[in-house]
Amino acid sequence: MKPFYLTTAIDYVNSLPHLGTTYEKVSADVLARFLRMEGYEVYFQMGNDEHSAGVQKEAEKQNLPVKKYCDGMRKKFEAIWKSLDISYDNFIQTSESRHHDCVKNFLKALKPEDVEKKPYEGWYCEGCEAFLMEKDLVDKKCANHKREPKWLHEENYYFLLSKYQQKLLDFYEKNPNFIVPAIRRNEVLNLVRSGLQDISISRSSFTWGIPFPEDPSHVVYVWFDALLNYLTAVGYGQENSENKKRFEKFWPASLHIVGKDITRFHCVIWPAMLMSANLPLPKTVFGHGFVSLKGEKMSKTLGNIVTPLDIVPHYGSDALRYYLLRESSFGSDGDFTWENFIKRYNSDLANDLGNLLNRTLGMSTKYLGGKIIKPSNTELSDEDRRLKKIVLETLSKVRESLDYLKSGDVNFHLALSAIWEIISTADKYIDTSAPWKLAKEEKKSDIQRILYNVLDTLRNLAILVAPFMPQASQKIWQQLGLSKILPWEKQCFENIAWEKTPDTFVGIGQPIFPRIETTQKEKAMETNDLIDITDFLKTDLRVAEIKLAEKIEGADKLLRLQVEVGGELRQIVAGIALHYKPEELIGKKVVVVANLKPAKIRGVESHGMLLAASDANGLSVLILDKIEISTGAKVK
Ligand code: MSP
Repeated sequence: MKPFYLTTAIDYVNSLPHLGTTYEKVSADVLARFLRMEGYEVYFQMGNDEHSAGVQKEAEKQNLPVKKYCDGMRKKFEAIWKSLDISYDNFIQTSESRHHDCVKNFLKALKPEDVEKKPYEGWYCEGCEAFLMEKDLVDKKCANHKREPKWLHEENYYFLLSKYQQKLLDFYEKNPNFIVPAIRRNEVLNLVRSGLQDISISRSSFTWGIPFPEDPSHVVYVWFDALLNYLTAVGYGQENSENKKRFEKFWPASLHIVGKDITRFHCVIWPAMLMSANLPLPKTVFGHGFVSLKGEKMSKTLGNIVTPLDIVPHYGSDALRYYLLRESSFGSDGDFTWENFIKRYNSDLANDLGNLLNRTLGMSTKYLGGKIIKPSNTELSDEDRRLKKIVLETLSKVRESLDYLKSGDVNFHLALSAIWEIISTADKYIDTSAPWKLAKEEKKSDIQRILYNVLDTLRNLAILVAPFMPQASQKIWQQLGLSKILPWEKQCFENIAWEKTPDTFVGIGQPIFPRIETTQKEKAMETNDLIDITDFLKTDLRVAEIKLAEKIEGADKLLRLQVEVGGELRQIVAGIALHYKPEELIGKKVVVVANLKPAKIRGVESHGMLLAASDANGLSVLILDKIEISTGAKVK
């Protein structure tokens, strides 16, 4: 198997993970799971960065020895990462002795002429754990952490980074995939072209850290120590044959995933350090975007955080994983809002994926007693072929979307939207094939074939969503009755195929994504609160003409309408079938809510709502009496 060494940034432990740091770990986990399913031997490394001033301060605040505080935080971090199904292979604490050994050995391996002791003074930001230049300050504050840096004067050991300017530029030139996406590459190129300053690699005013081997009155500078975690994790500088073998197999790293604020440490200082120690350089550093809250970077220093603990215990880890990945590409920023989270959850997870599984299992039980048999007749109808095509085409779309070397980004959102196309095609397939109609006509073998095809589609879906939502994938697998035949853990993309589901027996399972209902309080507000005119004007009421009306098989109360609103044709599902015959409605001008978000009603897309009044005596659609009023006219 081809080795793949994947790392994330290691987190400062002065507070617990928030959605920003979580975004990075979840994204890396999806890639790790995806690559394992592609057949790679992945070594996925994560950990905690402990030797920072912020960490020491927090431990003092809590009256704990720093090491004890860090060990406690490790347990909390790991519990959170496990609750999010992050499948790392190794977790490091920088206070571990294996890391101390690695750092000491690495310092010895640096070219002696690259290290020098000299005095330095400048602005130091404890959030960044770095000296800032005057030009990096906005209103005398660090632009990232929005707080004033401290003026520090220290005599320290320096790594002569300035010597590496040309070597780095030559390296970037020869290795265009070293920095991804392009925006980060350009930032780094500009930074290096504008000249490099030597960097301090020790601190003397500070004691929490790894003692500097040459001079124990100093500790190693936290960033220098932290970057070396990537070497420690695969065994560098540790004396035993297992470590040596791991190092040979996995170094250089295939992909370092880090946030855009720390790309420069990974793309400038890190490669120069490795050059000086004569070690091979990582293949790629990916600088991802930020998760923000109301447009501001989510950060513990700024105090505007939502944490996985606010979400996972209530809605599950898959819901958070899905939401974080569904909104934007990995290279760009994304905003978190509760409103969007609930919308996405209810529409994509509860309605689309959850409902497809539920209705299929329901029909399989109702019409076939749960017994699903592979059809003997292999002839495919046009609908079968359409479904088969999309099922088989999607894997290559997912591969393409995640291929950062080709596209220069990781487009999780495109991969998920390609997978969701299978869901909408399968929904349409069920609606057109209408098993409920076939049941009335007693066409059992047709029902068998149709439900087999949908089940086979769900089996493929379970495989495709596995890297993104491992729990949902496993639940679908179990509910399809496949766990006894092929353990879910053995999934790989070779199993993506048409008609590969063996004969199986299914029951009606629990909904995998129960809908999030608005709370009682919110409901009460919806019904009791008065609204003002601006609230009312948010509803876009328009005149529409009904062009087509028909019953929806299997749904006694529903009519499918096609209406024309100002030249645009729309489909609306209306619950009026018990009160109107379809033919009575054609040509009538009615009022519709035109800005309602599209939704699926019994699997049929509905884009808008018809206005009607109803009480115990019946239901009456609002029909306009002046027929010449044009469609699209606004109703106020
Ligand atoms: N300890 C350093 C990294 C050392 S790696 C050798 C550090 N720690 S951190 O806890 O501040 O951040 C950890 C990771 O989370 C970084 O990659 C950082 O960019 C990322 N994020 C922190 N806040 C973030 C968002 N709001 N959004 C997305 N990622 C962000 O930096």
